[in-house]
Amino acid sequence: MSNKGEKLYEGKAKVIYGTEDPGIVHAYFKDDATAFNALKKGTIAHKGTVNATVSTRLFRLLAAEGIRTHFIDQPAPNELRLERLEMIPLEVVVRNIAAGSLCKRYGIPAGQVLEEPLVEFFYKADDLQDPMLNDDHVTQVLKIVTRPELQQIKDLTLKINQALHVFFVRCNLRLVDFKLEYGWDANKALVLGDEISPDNCRLWDVTDNRVLDKDRFRMDMGDVESSYQEVMKRVLEA
Ligand code: TMP
Ligand code: ASP
Repeated sequence: MSNKGEKLYEGKAKVIYGTEDPGIVHAYFKDDATAFNALKKGTIAHKGTVNATVSTRLFRLLAAEGIRTHFIDQPAPNELRLERLEMIPLEVVVRNIAAGSLCKRYGIPAGQVLEEPLVEFFYKADDLQDPMLNDDHVTQVLKIVTRPELQQIKDLTLKINQALHVFFVRCNLRLVDFKLEYGWDANKALVLGDEISPDNCRLWDVTDNRVLDKDRFRMDMGDVESSYQEVMKRVLEA
């Protein structure tokens, strides 16, 4: 990888390195895959390149819609140059169609279209298994952000959902659900961080509902690599 500075953070799917500019970091996207809070581990060949490339396309799309993201550029296939943010320890999940933990928690069938997009918050804390939070947990108990800031996060998340939904229709993909993470820039402005990729989105083929995301790895469905490649191909062609 280019320009490798001090390692600032290593997560399950990415390593973040500093650069000579304190406001800029490099994210190196790994091929390592984990699920169920790293109980399941594996590798998905070329996943780093797919996730960096898909994220690049989607961050550019969001920038064109006037949405601030941390993306600067993609200096190598599996590497992004990013604005350094003070990350907010929330996983913000948006759901358009019931799947995954929503179905498990409430006993509703997978595939049920939700009347309106549903926004959920999870506390980003591996040792606690990322528990779900309501607004009061976020603002009063953990004091992660204030109420107006939480509203701002929700509004921005729904705007991103709308933009991504429209784009994925062009890819013949249903955006079932996805997870976002935000941070504050040096001026305390809210900025979208992390990645947007088949690792953190559920994407089903519109025509036959074929699963084309990380659920293929989570649930041992096979064809994991080819599904990631298929998503990248469609995203780059749309
Ligand atoms: P869930 O149904 O397991 O709660 O997942 C909802 C969405 O969030 C799905 O698109 C996968 C994504 N996600 C992550 O990106 N990271 C995680 O740790 C989890 C649990 C889900
Ligand atoms: N990335 C998470 C983990 O490793 C969960 C997931 O994506 O399913 O546990």
